[in-house]
Amino acid sequence: MPYDVADRSWWQTAVVYQVYVRSFADGNGDGIGDLLGLRQRLPYLHELGVDALWITPWYSTPGVDGGYDVSDYYDINPEYGTLADAEAVITEAHRLGIRVIADIVPNHTSDQHPWFQRAIAADPADPARNRYWFRPGRGEHANLPPNNWLSLFGGPAWTRLTPEGPDWYLHLFAAGQPDLNWTSPALAADFEQVLRFWFDRGIDGFRIDVAHGLTKDPLLPDLVHGDDLVLLGGAQQSHPHWDRDETIDIYRRWRTVADSYDPPKVFVAEAWVDSTERLRRYLSPDALHSAFNFGLLGCPWQAAALRREIVDHLAGLGGAAPATWVLSNHDVIRHVTRYSREDTSLDEARQHYGEPADLELGRRRARAAALLTLALPGSTYIYQGDELSLAEVEDLPAAVRQDPNTSDAPGRDGCRIPLPWAADGTPTHGFGGTGPGWLPSPPDWATLSVTTQSGDPSSSLTLYRTALALRSKLRAPGDEHDLHWLDASPQVLAFRSGTLGCVVNIGREPVQLSTQTDVLLTSGVGGDPLVVEPDTTTWIHIPAASAGPF
Ligand code: GLC
Ligand code: CA
Repeated sequence: MPYDVADRSWWQTAVVYQVYVRSFADGNGDGIGDLLGLRQRLPYLHELGVDALWITPWYSTPGVDGGYDVSDYYDINPEYGTLADAEAVITEAHRLGIRVIADIVPNHTSDQHPWFQRAIAADPADPARNRYWFRPGRGEHANLPPNNWLSLFGGPAWTRLTPEGPDWYLHLFAAGQPDLNWTSPALAADFEQVLRFWFDRGIDGFRIDVAHGLTKDPLLPDLVHGDDLVLLGGAQQSHPHWDRDETIDIYRRWRTVADSYDPPKVFVAEAWVDSTERLRRYLSPDALHSAFNFGLLGCPWQAAALRREIVDHLAGLGGAAPATWVLSNHDVIRHVTRYSREDTSLDEARQHYGEPADLELGRRRARAAALLTLALPGSTYIYQGDELSLAEVEDLPAAVRQDPNTSDAPGRDGCRIPLPWAADGTPTHGFGGTGPGWLPSPPDWATLSVTTQSGDPSSSLTLYRTALALRSKLRAPGDEHDLHWLDASPQVLAFRSGTLGCVVNIGREPVQLSTQTDVLLTSGVGGDPLVVEPDTTTWIHIPAASAGPF
């Protein structure tokens, strides 16, 4: 069922499925997910009912940071396939009515990228150097980093080019990911060419990696307050390397490129900024279309906190753009696990990693959270495996872990385990081939596999399929900004968006709906449809101007 190709506002209400290629499906059986596997599984995504895919970086890469270290923006990682395979994925997805968002990594390249290789081979005065940040070290022997910035992955944000030479280079992530210098006009022009290259191949948009990091204070000053050494920016009005005002100028140019296509291409920003007010600056008809809301993702499973996040976020956006909700991605502890311990925020999940968890409770809450986010106005991103209720794998032995991020110990591999497709007795549960996957799969994931859940009316997969089908039927143009809170007790979130009503019970007592309520779907299993049990969400149909559900 092809979509309406002329639709310019599809992204405002889209349900987008995040494909982490390496772990989605393995087409050639070598234990590594690839584009053939993705292509073969597109009918699954069609049946699930998603509107678009966000595909994590598929470019040539040494693989220091799961492909976020790009060595050629114009070619595909041979582990994943070829350019022709990528084109086949795009064509086939479009044929099934699914749009495709690729991932662009403009804050840094791989240290193996020709730009960096050329820069380090060049004379210090050569303009080739100007694409990155090189500075002499401090101290008598230049053996101290040029400033006190820290890498998000641990340690200083600087690496010395040679053991004896004066120069160091900046990398806010791994040493294999040197930061680009966006004051270089040649660099800006090159990236616009990269955008066009992929737009011309049919992709519908880009997710922008580290969108808040591209520009730096050219003086590269030390971070002054202890607070500013935290990762996401601090109290300083103008942070020397995060969320600087002039970053938006880059996106203004990008928008011109996107708008030169018909229908226009779209952007979604990964921007970790201090407030929705700051986020809103990125969002306008002459800059970016959308940006992830990470507030809900970090939020504990508590009624007051969730309500505050939703209210504040929508107010902060002020209608400048529809909200973009997300509960999990390839960088954070999966929400089934976050919601399965006493403290349910992301920060607490990090503190309590590996401690006993009530996954049954986590799964019940994750189902309720799915219906909550899918009822909110705007667009929603689903991370692969959310629909299967996968939990974080916290007991991976150190020897198999691959994530370079040591500051967020023990790293992000536990949310990147290959998807279980079938209870077929293979070590990867049908991910591909007969051998082990690039990360080991838990033996008990056979029970969570796609084939196991497909025929089960009470499964998480069935819940997602039903919810997405209902959502696409009920959503009407204009709903992307529409949210009305309904009277409810403090432990209950109840709202209407368009004709879709949503009641989320986060309290300990069941909530009774009135007998006239038109119940559409519930995240609970069995029981009286007019009773919303604790940690359960129920969708109801509310024709405009009718009374509430209580
Ligand atoms: C983003 C990606 C993350 C990556 C980092 C550096 O946060 O989501 O996976 O490690 O950028 O590119
Ligand atoms: Ca493979």
